[in-house]
Amino acid sequence: MSEPPRTLLVTSALPYANGPIHLGHMVEYIQTDIWVRFQRGLGHRCAYVCADDGHGTPIMLKAEQEGMTPEDLIETIGEEHRADFRDFAISFDNYHTTHSPENRACSELIYLRLKEAGHIARKDVAQAYDPVKGMFLPDRYVKGTCPSCGAADQYGDNCEVCGATYSPADLADAVSVLSGEKPELRSSEHYFVRLADFEETLRQWLAGGGREGCPPVQPEIANKLDEWFDAGLQDWDISRDAPYFGFEIPDVPGKYFYVWLDAPIGYMGSFRHLCARRGDLDFESSWRPDSEVELYHFVGKDIAYFHTLFWPAMLHGAGFRMPTGVFVHGFLTVNGQKMSKRTGTFVKARTYLDNLDPEYLRYYFACKLSHGIDDLDLNFDDFSRRVNSDLVGKVVNIASRCSSFINRHFEGRLSARLSEPGLYREAVGASTRIAALYDSREFGKAMREVMATADRANQYIDERKPWVLVKDDSKREEVRDVCTVGLNLFRVLMTWLKPVLPRTAERAASFLRCGDFAWDDVASPLLDHEIARFEPLLTRVEQGKIDAMVSESMDSEEKDDPGAEPGAETLDRIDISDFAKVDLRVARVLDARLVEGADKLLEIRVDIGDEERTVFAGIRAAYPTETLVGRHVVVVANLAPRAMRFGVSDGMILAAGPGGTDIWLLGVDEGVATGMRVK
Ligand code: 2FM
Ligand code: ZN
Repeated sequence: MSEPPRTLLVTSALPYANGPIHLGHMVEYIQTDIWVRFQRGLGHRCAYVCADDGHGTPIMLKAEQEGMTPEDLIETIGEEHRADFRDFAISFDNYHTTHSPENRACSELIYLRLKEAGHIARKDVAQAYDPVKGMFLPDRYVKGTCPSCGAADQYGDNCEVCGATYSPADLADAVSVLSGEKPELRSSEHYFVRLADFEETLRQWLAGGGREGCPPVQPEIANKLDEWFDAGLQDWDISRDAPYFGFEIPDVPGKYFYVWLDAPIGYMGSFRHLCARRGDLDFESSWRPDSEVELYHFVGKDIAYFHTLFWPAMLHGAGFRMPTGVFVHGFLTVNGQKMSKRTGTFVKARTYLDNLDPEYLRYYFACKLSHGIDDLDLNFDDFSRRVNSDLVGKVVNIASRCSSFINRHFEGRLSARLSEPGLYREAVGASTRIAALYDSREFGKAMREVMATADRANQYIDERKPWVLVKDDSKREEVRDVCTVGLNLFRVLMTWLKPVLPRTAERAASFLRCGDFAWDDVASPLLDHEIARFEPLLTRVEQGKIDAMVSESMDSEEKDDPGAEPGAETLDRIDISDFAKVDLRVARVLDARLVEGADKLLEIRVDIGDEERTVFAGIRAAYPTETLVGRHVVVVANLAPRAMRFGVSDGMILAAGPGGTDIWLLGVDEGVATGMRVK
């Protein structure tokens, strides 16, 4: 690459210091690490920083539950996180904690500058208070009966049954999750950032604040932001009352910064900690509004809001530069489902590492990643197939086939000439395309290009058949030539794969004795060069190891987590006479419409044979209304009618699945008569 070197400051989101890293988290760290390694390979200076997110109520309470101080808890968990990231070869330049002096200094500075510039407001907020615990309760720490549908045991912010959103004060029979007591409604003064002050700045940043005047976010996120602007930017509550584990607000005793204020500032804190030991990086100039340093954040779509509104607003309001890019990715599903402890698909990073090579997962995620925000699925069969067929069967195979001839017949020395310059040139020609794909985070497409070249290399070796040539003494030099071309193509492939497979690349570099696969080195092939003996670079995925990982994920999670979903053996059983009471009918959908004010519900009119009914069902994300009309479904006809905020639901449509888009209606074949009893 002839581009002049740039300086990039890159971050991944900070994991909370109250639980283990799991494969869902690893999507982002692997995505960021591949990108960072690629940029470093081009010769750019890249500081990749992260930290544990150590503050907030859940951490404070978890520490109390474990009988430790929060400081000890975050220290212990921080060590586990570091070990997981190290073993997955995540190449952080610095991994810090938000509970650090650097972060405290940056948080106070940002707050005081915002205050001085008039961007902080104070308002009284009425909130649930647990008189026994002596603390205000976040919404998720209050449970009660949903005011809309009457479902029991719902959280204080939204109902998992009907999807209604509300505040804890709206719940009937509300209790504190911590003490079981009825919460009081108490008022206290809170501090807010006036987000609306930054609307114009944010709009300008979104239009062209990225690299070379490009938008700093993906189009999907820009659309989402437009919706948020249209809804109006609300003041953002940045304070919490004691007791709280965090930083006390300067000059406001007993009030603390909300964890989401100092979490993103943790990127700065970690970078500041790094600058203290790296002479080539300068903290102050990196954060000035006119800084040449590029700032990139990789985050999941659930926290895009914080990184594209609050964080840039805070930075700007405090006189700092804004991000060059916020790269948002989707969530991980495993075998097509939300990760679940019951099925063993909620896999901790450590459980994976105990069973499988991290390079497999790095490659698999690379194959599935794009620059978009769609979710990606880890399917274990596909995982084995791709790793075994692509990496072992195609790439490593080239090296093992060719090296055996070179080592056995030519004392490890390659030919002095490249017999197929055209083939080699054509392969190297893909370098620019692959670099552009890496740069734009289209890793899946990059991997397809890499494998197309691997196929071409294997095809060439198959055509030239060195195992046949070697039997004819007069063709021995041809064997050396073919294997020299093969090994040079292998070198090109490893150069491209190095950001994804850093450890395999290291072993391959020792085998080829070729330096460290710098991106541009492939311009000159290895000729008249001695290679080492071939050692296996990567072995095949064994199904037994996947099975062991899944089984360990099941066992340990169910043991560790008393709140885990129950397995079949722990379900409450009903006997057949209970079941016989349920009147199931085949019904035909006459009409389906959205319910205003409910995110998940549809109002559905069904014909159950002898009458028409209206039923509310939480299937909106999975079934657009137009796909329902005329469809046959199964309805519980004798369920007592339930009064909901939106009307009365008279029956229930049967569907199964974890929720969201993953809900499936019980199927009924075409032609089954409406009204037929299902028994
Ligand atoms: O959602 C989370 O897991 C947060 N701990 C992420 C924080 S990212 C950044 F803002 F610090
Ligand atoms: Zn409800």
